Amino acid sequence: EEKTGLKDFLHINDFDKGTILKILDRAKEVKALLKSGERTYLPFKGKTMAMIFAKPSMRTRVSFETGFYLLGGHAIFLGPKDIEMGKREETRDVARVLSRYNDIIMARLFAHQDLLDLANYASVPVVNGLTDYNHPCQIMADALTMIEHIGQIEGTKVVYVGDGNNIVHSWLLLAAVIPFHFVCVCPKGYVPDPKTVEIAQQAGVSKIEITHDPKEAVKGADVVYSDVWASMGQKDEAADRRKAFQGFQVDEELMKIAGPQAYFMHCLPAERGVEVTNGVVEAPNSIVFPQAENRMHAQNAIMLHSLGL
Ligand code: CP
Ligand code: NVA
Repeated sequence: EEKTGLKDFLHINDFDKGTILKILDRAKEVKALLKSGERTYLPFKGKTMAMIFAKPSMRTRVSFETGFYLLGGHAIFLGPKDIEMGKREETRDVARVLSRYNDIIMARLFAHQDLLDLANYASVPVVNGLTDYNHPCQIMADALTMIEHIGQIEGTKVVYVGDGNNIVHSWLLLAAVIPFHFVCVCPKGYVPDPKTVEIAQQAGVSKIEITHDPKEAVKGADVVYSDVWASMGQKDEAADRRKAFQGFQVDEELMKIAGPQAYFMHCLPAERGVEVTNGVVEAPNSIVFPQAENRMHAQNAIMLHSLGL
């Protein structure tokens, strides 16, 4: 169906640089308002959001639900056992029914194609709360956090250490829009999707590198970023992955090689002692909690944009 004046938020590169920066500016503005204690800005008043979760979540669920409420709306949590999209009921039916009750749908799913189908059949905006392919709301929050701590994204060096997963795909798609130096340093069998690497490279906006030596890669990084080695849906591979990822733990030594300017970032949840040491998570240059906080503010701005508000 036509979504006049309404926009899905499925991939960062569905938007141009101006729009992404405008959303991030809006996030800063509304964050300041909420942090000041102001509770009279209620753009979502009278609106409802359906949140579909096929996977577990803390940050995504709580930040979307709280953010939507603080701006006047009501959010409905639908957990993995509730609607069982694709099993109890077809995605295209879920999309059309929820569109008749709700103003916006947020979904965290396994297959990315299910999200595309949901967006295609919904007549209200669909926001991507993570799929096996990408996690754009996370990287928008990360971008906001970099702007707050470094002043900008443009011209920085971001080094992601670990699995070439959904988080990496969203970094690559951000790099297709905003110019910075992005390095994914990963074991040889765990590279990101080649088509997505190509999208980022062909955009000609950023310097993109996929490499395999963490000590070499992190030199001069403004951000060293890590994520779990076994994502949701891959937990049975955890033991094999721990072997394959030897040498890819972000530890104090690696942060020292990166340099004193380097911030540590992680989308969380983190497995301390696996992909990152406890010391790195707790160090003064770790900004994992401001990053988590910014999920709510980035998403509020994304939802305002999606709803044309
Ligand atoms: N970073 C993130 O998406 O966290 P949750 O899985 O807890 O939502
Ligand atoms: N790559 C992780 C991110 C969690 C926020 C996963 O998909 O489980």
